[in-house]
Amino acid sequence: MTAAPVDPTSTSAWSRLRSLAADFSPDLRSWFAQDPGRVERLTRTAGDLRVDLSKALVDDDVLAALLDLAEEVGVAARRDAMLRGERINVTEDRAVLHTALRLPRDTPAKRRPVVDGQDVVADVHEVLDRVYAFADRVRSGAWTGATGARVRTVVNIGIGGSDLGPVMAYEALAAYRQEGLECRFISNIDPTDAATTLAGLDPASTLFVVSSKTFGTLETLTNARLCRQWLLDGLRSAGAEVDERAAVAQHFVAVSTALDKVADFGIDPDNAFGFWDWVGGRYSLDSAIGTSLAIAIGPERFAEMLAGFHAMDEHFRTAAPADNVPLLMGLLNVWYADFLGAGTHAVLPYSQLLHRFPAYLQQLTMESNGKGVRWDGSPVTAGTGEVFWGEPGTNGQHAFYQLIHQGTRLVPADFIAFANPAYPLADGDEDVHELFLANFLAQTRALAFGKTADEVRAEGTDESVVPARVFSGNRPTTSIIAPDLTPSVLGQLVALYEHITFTQGVVWGIDSFDQWGVELGKQLAQEVGPALSGDADTLAEQDASTRALIAYYQEHRR
Ligand code: F6P
Repeated sequence: MTAAPVDPTSTSAWSRLRSLAADFSPDLRSWFAQDPGRVERLTRTAGDLRVDLSKALVDDDVLAALLDLAEEVGVAARRDAMLRGERINVTEDRAVLHTALRLPRDTPAKRRPVVDGQDVVADVHEVLDRVYAFADRVRSGAWTGATGARVRTVVNIGIGGSDLGPVMAYEALAAYRQEGLECRFISNIDPTDAATTLAGLDPASTLFVVSSKTFGTLETLTNARLCRQWLLDGLRSAGAEVDERAAVAQHFVAVSTALDKVADFGIDPDNAFGFWDWVGGRYSLDSAIGTSLAIAIGPERFAEMLAGFHAMDEHFRTAAPADNVPLLMGLLNVWYADFLGAGTHAVLPYSQLLHRFPAYLQQLTMESNGKGVRWDGSPVTAGTGEVFWGEPGTNGQHAFYQLIHQGTRLVPADFIAFANPAYPLADGDEDVHELFLANFLAQTRALAFGKTADEVRAEGTDESVVPARVFSGNRPTTSIIAPDLTPSVLGQLVALYEHITFTQGVVWGIDSFDQWGVELGKQLAQEVGPALSGDADTLAEQDASTRALIAYYQEHRR
């Protein structure tokens, strides 16, 4: 039985933070001017990531109180319980062991979690070996479609955690993909998604990976059936003799915890890769859910990514609290959200390759911590779950940065950059990556230090527009920089945010591993369906607004 959550607001650290917040008047300009050691004191290293917290709105007193808060609510104890395989996902009565997905094969016995008497590390590597062997066969051309054609396109069918992780990582690791082998992703039940994703593909050389933890998700199963029909129709219209079972066996593999349902769908159990209920959907990129990615980048690179995840896990497990980057970043988020009033948190990668990273993080953070009750069922006692959002720089600069710089809301932002570009291109003599990095540096500087009215005036600005051109500064950022966006660094980054999310969840007393909030909509979608197709009884059960929307649909559909 998991320990009751400590009410964070009852701790002495919380009271201290409250009074620190009441008198808090951050001034990054003078903090930097008066404290030459600030950058060094507030910069940490975790694996290959250098994390600069000096432009955060934090001073030594706040930091000390935040670390005391972590101690008082028991972040370290709960982390260790998670790593041991205790059932800390209480509302689903499950262990939470995504960290076991990246434990090395030779992990010593005392570090190997056991769930229901089962050595999970052995299970993980058994499945990984099968995924790797399969990926190698597809990559080498040994695995062919029903007509003997080599696979040229892998289509992952999945949604939520069975889509966002693989697509994010596939984009991020574009430089590591095998040429001539493309991955595409279908997630939405909007049939447009399947139609546009399949457009132009040759069924004979297309392999589908149906990814679904439960193998019961409406979107995924519907899309899988659409794709099966598309495959069979396509093979037939190209003149192939089609044995349905054989075609499905050659063109469909599955990833799921529900292998019985996979077999019911008609996918050969030999072509199914399992995982376990102790892996949450949004924490599953590094399970067999990453099969499409493993095919794209190859087993060796996939293993490097896992090693990167593991390096961050080890940092989170072993680094002293004051040096522990996920812990510090999670605590800072609590400070911003609960004491400085931030409702959102921006993640701004200065890497086009990370363009799906914010979307990935939205599920990770918001499905995890968007909760109003604690793990014992009692209401939360503080604001929880900021809205995470973002876009890569520099695109975001020309869209929403205005609000971050001069708006009335506090938007803490994480900036992520790399010293080296994945694709070095020069514009004549100009190093374009340097231009890019100059923007990353300029933005974090402008946000921190702003521009005073006197500085604006000194540029000869007309007095009437001076106020509009003043930047208050003191807009908090964290800069994360690494040498390159390698598979390992990507693993480190994802694990970093997993543990940030965990830290915040523990402070708030939340079960960060369930997601009951998505269930009601799923249930109502099933219920309302018949009303759309004209069932009068179901229509009568709907509210007035829903009935009117259905009437509009019926009037306008062709
Ligand atoms: O949206 C709810 C959710 O259960 C997510 O947590 C999960 O990642 C997604 O649906 C997909 O679920 P499955 O992998 O079981 O199809």
